[in-house]
Amino acid sequence: MEPQSSSTTGLMIINLFLFFLFTSATVNSGSNLPKCDIDLLEFPLNLEYFEAEYFSFGSMGMGLDTIQPDLTAGGPPPVGAKKANLSSLVNDIITQFAYQEVGHLRAIKKMVEGFPRPLLNLSEESFATVMNDACGEDLSPPFDPYANDINYLISCYVIPYLVAGLLGVESGQDAVIRSLLYERAKEKVSPYEMTVAEFTGKISGLRNKLGKNGVKDEGLVVSRDEGAEKKIEGNVLAGDEDSLAYGRTPREILRIVYGSGAEHVPGGFYPNGGDGAIAKGYLKRGR
Ligand SMILES: *[C@@H]1O[C@H](CO)[C@@H](O)[C@H](O)[C@H]1NC(C)=O
Ligand SMILES: *[C@@H]1O[C@H](CO)[C@@H](O)[C@H](O)[C@H]1NC(C)=O
Repeated sequence: MEPQSSSTTGLMIINLFLFFLFTSATVNSGSNLPKCDIDLLEFPLNLEYFEAEYFSFGSMGMGLDTIQPDLTAGGPPPVGAKKANLSSLVNDIITQFAYQEVGHLRAIKKMVEGFPRPLLNLSEESFATVMNDACGEDLSPPFDPYANDINYLISCYVIPYLVAGLLGVESGQDAVIRSLLYERAKEKVSPYEMTVAEFTGKISGLRNKLGKNGVKDEGLVVSRDEGAEKKIEGNVLAGDEDSLAYGRTPREILRIVYGSGAEHVPGGFYPNGGDGAIAKGYLKRGR
């Protein structure tokens, strides 16, 4: 396992560069950035493509190929993405998120050349597999992320955020999804005998297990010991013992989104793995 200090440094570097990226209007070319900084800056594109496609298909039934084809740089269209059955409130919120992701992609690509859209597996089965892994059993019927508000919001909860502080807007999105789910925490997720809170607890547990770096993820309702100041069970925003945001390193993220627990074994949402120097470097080492 990577020593804690080096992952922390990695996180700080990413935060620093995203800080530059989103505060500096004057920098518009990555050409004079050191190579390793470019690598760290382009890495989030992997997740931004995922979110852009998932949110825009879920809310509008179309993706980057229709909305902003040049941002795909010719990468393959996602597999299995489609319009979700959403109420007008949730559809409206997810549409906003979708367009925000388009902006994030453009912003990163202004800074670094990046890479084309990687192949994404956004099929029902792909999410159903994650839910089965989280629950430790095969749900019957298989979990369908596109079925309704609750399922779609739970599926959004599956997407790990690289660094909670990565972009103000991304952590805001996480917070909105968590609050919409928190409102429904005690509702049963039909037709399963599990509540929304139980689902989120299991997904957080799976992410901690796959990430292999301790507890960095907490459900919407936790034991009092894990709540803010060890005083409360409601946990609409996850935080560490000082209620500071958790962050994840690129390799932890890859372990989670590949569903393999290993940054060199692709799969899950990324059948061919992520792109960019960091993700490809891990893949090469696995061969
Ligand atoms: C997408 O994921 C599902 C479930 O794991 C799998 O059955 C299917 O073959 C995958 N599709 C691609 C193109 O990787
Ligand atoms: C869409 O969702 C609503 C409520 O969330 C549900 O009543 C309805 O059956 C769903 N429609 C389909 C086609 O699944």
